[in-house]
Amino acid sequence: MLDSCAITVRKFEGAEFSAYRALRLSALEESPDVFGSTLSAEQLRTAEEWASRLQVGCNSGLDQPLIGQVGTIAAGLAWGKVDRFDSTIVHLYQMWVAPEFRGRGVARLLLRTIVAWAASLQARSVHLGVACGESPAMRFYVSEGFVPFGQVEPLRPGSALLVQSMQFQIPHAAV
Ligand SMILES: CC(C)(COP(=O)(O)OP(=O)(O)OC[C@H]1O[C@@H](n2cnc3c(N)ncnc32)[C@H](O)[C@@H]1OP(=O)(O)O)[C@@H](O)C(=O)NCCC(=O)NCCS
Repeated sequence: MLDSCAITVRKFEGAEFSAYRALRLSALEESPDVFGSTLSAEQLRTAEEWASRLQVGCNSGLDQPLIGQVGTIAAGLAWGKVDRFDSTIVHLYQMWVAPEFRGRGVARLLLRTIVAWAASLQARSVHLGVACGESPAMRFYVSEGFVPFGQVEPLRPGSALLVQSMQFQIPHAAV
């Protein structure tokens, strides 16, 4: 039945911190080697901290916290953020789709929504970091037009896991 459900992406509402927390903790538990943060670190946050983080993100104008849904079920998330020092750059963080909902285009819709938001802000490029090597995530970003730039860096200080920075040039910026 879920197979025929529509995929939608929308901005989180400020009060939806429980859904945000559940998705983020699931992401860190299921994919511990692709995110800069860790499950143990995020589990230490109080409910108030989760609520505040999402509320700030929803209201800042510089953040785009997105939830992806299959029907009415929360299936994934992504967080866009304007660079603190260079407003022509938007960063993409926290991209994750629950395993049972992969392969349906949820991530593509999340990513394209962030890119459209970045374009609406007159940003020139979207940047992200992806774990080095062949992976669904790497294939996904390359298929969406992202290209590597810069040096690979450790996922976390002291980590043997490496991350490659990728960027996408927003077409309007070339005009
Ligand atoms: C990477 C991830 C977000 C993709 O989510 P998804 O919803 O399954 O991706 P989509 O269905 O939107 O796929 C979009 C494109 O990505 C590529 N892709 C995604 N999964 C793939 C896989 N398993 N094998 C090959 N290509 C894949 C394909 O090009 C696909 O397009 P196509 O279906 O038309 O061929 C998901 O696998 C995930 O959450 N992985 C763990 C967390 C992670 O790595 N996050 C990224 C952090 S930078």
